[in-house]
Amino acid sequence: MTAGAIVPPTPAAIAHAARLLGEGRLVAIPTETVYGLAADATDDRAVGVLFTAKGRPAANPLIVHVATLDAARALGRFDARAERLALALWPGPLTLVLARTAACAVVPRASAGLATIALRIPADPVARALLAAFGKPVVAPSANRSGEVSPTTAAHVAASLGDRVALILDGGPCPVGVESTVLSLAGPVPLLLRPGGVTRAAIEAVIGPVATLADVPDSDAARTSPGLLGRHYAPHIPVRLDATSVGPDEALLAFGPRPLGGAAAARNLSATGDLAEAARNLFAMLRELDSPAYRGIAVMPIPATGIGAAINDRLKRATADAALPPPGH
Ligand code: TXA
Ligand code: MG
Repeated sequence: MTAGAIVPPTPAAIAHAARLLGEGRLVAIPTETVYGLAADATDDRAVGVLFTAKGRPAANPLIVHVATLDAARALGRFDARAERLALALWPGPLTLVLARTAACAVVPRASAGLATIALRIPADPVARALLAAFGKPVVAPSANRSGEVSPTTAAHVAASLGDRVALILDGGPCPVGVESTVLSLAGPVPLLLRPGGVTRAAIEAVIGPVATLADVPDSDAARTSPGLLGRHYAPHIPVRLDATSVGPDEALLAFGPRPLGGAAAARNLSATGDLAEAARNLFAMLRELDSPAYRGIAVMPIPATGIGAAINDRLKRATADAALPPPGH
């Protein structure tokens, strides 16, 4: 198999991928959220190679993926809240940030030297089969170069990382489409660091009220969530939010049954106004509209309820330092 080859997730391919991880190589894997770039979390050299392949700043910690709750308990300190959330919402798109255990086998570099560790059990059957076959924790950031739009198909991974990855397991398009929700339980108050595939309401139904980064001072936010601030998920052309009109030189990212007319090109996240469908389509459609042929991408308003919070979060990051004036200004 040539470097970067896209292969179907047969048992033989999964066994091969596990061997590659054991040799310190990088393998791209499907998860229910986005494709991940996997490496052996206990191999300092492999984790270093991963940071380089992504072009990721060393201060931005990685999420550690495991197959079982017992494996997670060996790495992070589970209190009663963490136990309840894990039992209710794992496997699934929820990442818990916990204090590291004394015996934690994950190399410090994976967590950017922090005293905490981010853990999740993914729901995707291919990811779970690989984790079971490998038998050790795996770091897996989204399988894109740092700052780019996250990949939701194997082809997106190949376009972004190409030969930097030894193998790409093709699990088809990701059913959730936005990354996991990151929740810190390292302090007394549960703190939502990144909205994602599990809604705030689903978490609060299990452990009661959670705080968000908007509730804490900026300095605390920067310390508890390195790498989560600022621009990310960015197309190469400007993105303009809450558009109520669109120029003939702009691409339109529509939502709902009444898309704006007159754009140079258009995609509709969900013609029926279904937020889960919109999340699933978000990154692929941003990529499709990301062309120098357009002045920018105008995005229609999307409700911030449920998984809409994650959609709006990703879109805001795509605009963070690239303001595009409305047409005619
Ligand atoms: O859905 C997902 O979570 C995907 C799939 C592949 O599992 N992975 C993903 O990883 O989105 P990544 O590296 O793109 O995002 C991980 C986020 C980072 O923004 C990082 O700041 C946060 O998790 N994180 C990791 N460890 C942390 C820690 N110890 N404390 C606070 N935040 C942490
Ligand atoms: Mg990412």
